[in-house]
Amino acid sequence: MKYGLSLICALVFTVVAGLSTAIAEGKFDNAIKARKAVMSLYAWNLGQLAAMAKGEVDYNPEAARIAAENITVLATMNNGAAWPQGSDSAALPGQTRAKSEAWTTYPESAEINKTLAEAAIAMSEVADTGLENIQANIGAIGGACSACHKKFRESE
Ligand code: HEC
Repeated sequence: MKYGLSLICALVFTVVAGLSTAIAEGKFDNAIKARKAVMSLYAWNLGQLAAMAKGEVDYNPEAARIAAENITVLATMNNGAAWPQGSDSAALPGQTRAKSEAWTTYPESAEINKTLAEAAIAMSEVADTGLENIQANIGAIGGACSACHKKFRESE
């Protein structure tokens, strides 16, 4: 009887502990999903400009301008809420690649983001005025992406 009771207690404890772990793990799921979505949209739009710059697809002034403007919108949006404290790769390995340095060295990441926004604005202004202008400006955008990834994103 005594043994049975402690077994039940142990089981209840295990279930409760398991539940609270699951809740803690789920707390940042949507924030992480949201910031990864922003990154995917960056890659999607930059990919279109890169394909034109490399001659993989024909230059389309209208499509180029739209892609550049989309990157500008993304880079000037305030997405701070998608980067809550504690949602770094040390706390949540496997779920996110955002290094804790993004928080501990803040506002360094915001500065890089500002550089990206400026490069995207510059691209928006010239994207529909000639392929050579895309080729001349795309390095500054890609460079800002890479600068941030090098510092604040875990390699895969
Ligand atoms: C201010 C820093 C910063 C800038 C600027 C930035 N990124 Fe990222 N990026 C990150 C971080 C941090 C992650 C990891 C996010 C995570 O796993 O939670 C990431 C992840 C990604 C991912 C993977 C998304 C996924 O689904 O896991 C892609 C793709 C990406 N970035 C593309 C880009 C492109 C393209 C640009 C430039 C147009 C860019 N990023 C600019 C910091 C940045």
